[in-house]
Amino acid sequence: MAESDAIDDLLIEQRKFPPSESFKKRTLVAGTHLYDEASEDYESFWARQASELVTWNTPWHTVCEWDLPFSKWFVGGTLNVSYNCLDRHVLAGKGDKVAFHFEGEPGDTRTVTYSQLLDEVQKFSNALKSLGVTKGDRVNIYMPMIPEAAVAMLACARIGAAHSVVFGGFSSQALADRINDAEAKVLITADGGWRRGEVFPLKQYADEALQSTPSIEHVVVVKRGGNDVSMTAGRDNWYHDLIAKADPVCPAEPMDAEQLLFLLYTSGTTGKPKGIMHTTGGYLTHVAYTHKYVFDLHPDEDVYWCTADVGWVTGHSYIVYGPLANGATQVMYEGVPNFPANDRIWSIVEKYKVTIFYTAPTAIRTYMKWGVEEPAKHDLSSLRLLGSVGEPINPEAWMWYHEHIGGSRCPIVDTWWQTETGGIMISPLPGATTLKPGSATFPVPGVGAEVVDDSGKAVSRGGGYLTLTHPWPGMLRGIWGDPQRYKDTYWSRFEGRYFAGDGAKLDDDGYLWLLGRVDDVMNVSGHRISTTEVESALVSHPAVAEAAVVGANDATTGQAIIAYVTLVGGASADEQDLRNHVAKEIGAIAKPKTVYFTPDLPKTRSGKIMRRLLRDVAEGRNLGDTTTLADASVVSELQKRAAEAPSED
Ligand code: WTA
Repeated sequence: MAESDAIDDLLIEQRKFPPSESFKKRTLVAGTHLYDEASEDYESFWARQASELVTWNTPWHTVCEWDLPFSKWFVGGTLNVSYNCLDRHVLAGKGDKVAFHFEGEPGDTRTVTYSQLLDEVQKFSNALKSLGVTKGDRVNIYMPMIPEAAVAMLACARIGAAHSVVFGGFSSQALADRINDAEAKVLITADGGWRRGEVFPLKQYADEALQSTPSIEHVVVVKRGGNDVSMTAGRDNWYHDLIAKADPVCPAEPMDAEQLLFLLYTSGTTGKPKGIMHTTGGYLTHVAYTHKYVFDLHPDEDVYWCTADVGWVTGHSYIVYGPLANGATQVMYEGVPNFPANDRIWSIVEKYKVTIFYTAPTAIRTYMKWGVEEPAKHDLSSLRLLGSVGEPINPEAWMWYHEHIGGSRCPIVDTWWQTETGGIMISPLPGATTLKPGSATFPVPGVGAEVVDDSGKAVSRGGGYLTLTHPWPGMLRGIWGDPQRYKDTYWSRFEGRYFAGDGAKLDDDGYLWLLGRVDDVMNVSGHRISTTEVESALVSHPAVAEAAVVGANDATTGQAIIAYVTLVGGASADEQDLRNHVAKEIGAIAKPKTVYFTPDLPKTRSGKIMRRLLRDVAEGRNLGDTTTLADASVVSELQKRAAEAPSED
């Protein structure tokens, strides 16, 4: 084990937060026994989770069949995912328990119990069957965040059809590409959904996509927006009509543990989107286990709220499958965080007395920008645990979340994982792990992760590449229709290891720190500097809410660091001050050459900063593919500014 020079280690964070005595008193895991058990034998560990957390129709004969890079878990076992999420809770007498407190953006609400959800799922399963959907078919889902989205997913699972959810904010073209790749037979959508006080016409976008999707035989339309839609006779059906005439009983049929549960497309930086494949038994085990222990779930007391959309993997694993398998009570919210005002999220936390809140760093930095007055308007004392996912969380954003949302009493679980991993891989266990702001800490029990250098040798301290060392039950089973691409993308860079594409470092205490995508690492005078560390240094300036840095070609230093900075509402700062601040925090080598101030940063629709576009802007190139950008006007504004800017020292 050696120190690596793959990526420099610059930022040092000293603050530590051990779990409080009061949190420890009622936590599920306060000691190291899960870690100890899993490190003895990870397969037996996962097998125990599978038998405790999942109900099987037939037991498996082999825990894991590993034919690198293809794995099968719980081989020979059968189960039904929808039975696990619904029937068994109702059979256990919990039918009246709330599954979802739904809050629409306009303020309408619905309470959905487990038995209501089961009734609806059975009816909709029969409706899908009546449209000719059978086991093994693919069904596309293009929906707003409403309970019917979960119903649609669970109904597919119940009858063995694989769903492919496409985020409702994606364009017609993106939808058509994904439908065609999966050759889906049915599309489930809605007339429209509410966003920022207006109805967005989903069915209209779907209709555009449907002009080039020959595999689609039927369309199901949920009435939500109330907007006018055109319905094609023989092809399009209203959801409520199908439900009204559906047979109410649809027994859950046992499925093979390796039956395809869903496809979910990730765009990546290049090439066509990849249909990530997940199957039933291993995936459900992984998400139920991590949802229970990472969120320290007490299902009869907690009100859990994950703010993701079902269009992303977080919505699949930690709104639909994990929480429902564990019988949790959740909040589901349809709209944007600033409608009708910037305190909407906090008013919902107060209203439903949310105890566990799971969101993304991009959202936290936005709340920072809006100011501490917003959360201060509400009683957030019900919260006991906070979570973060999607990007590295800057230490100062972590501190803000801890103080202003968590009242300095809630642990924060910073959870690292990917669409491909299916469930959480690296995260604290909140009652057992001493936290450091900005660190995802350690692999969860059952997961093997190592940081390696360029030659694939494990690093014990310093920066390198994050790899996973052995199979895990929720791992992707491949890329739909392209096994070679699966091998090339994830298993070719380091022999025998899964390479996630992320940089990471280990500190002196063995804590893991995520450093962002390795494609974004900057090379300044031969130093390999992570974007995350420079951004975190900028965000630690009191005036800065959010920052993105990129390396732009530079005749002297190879690359020079260009920073794009968004200030906290009402604050001001000057460029020189920020450059000096970075030099002071992490060293002169990381000092940005130029700092641009901007009211917003270009982000993907799931909220990740698109550094590739900023690099294009910084180097004066034409923009490449901008189709995954949430708001294209942000970049054109920055381009204008770059063209006008005088060149710096
Ligand atoms: C990033 C989202 C740092 C990372 C579940 C990963 C994170 C990609 C974290 C996957 C985290 C996610 N800290 N980075 N806690 N969580 N990422 O597929 O770069 O949408 O590879 O899955 O998000 O994004 P995806």
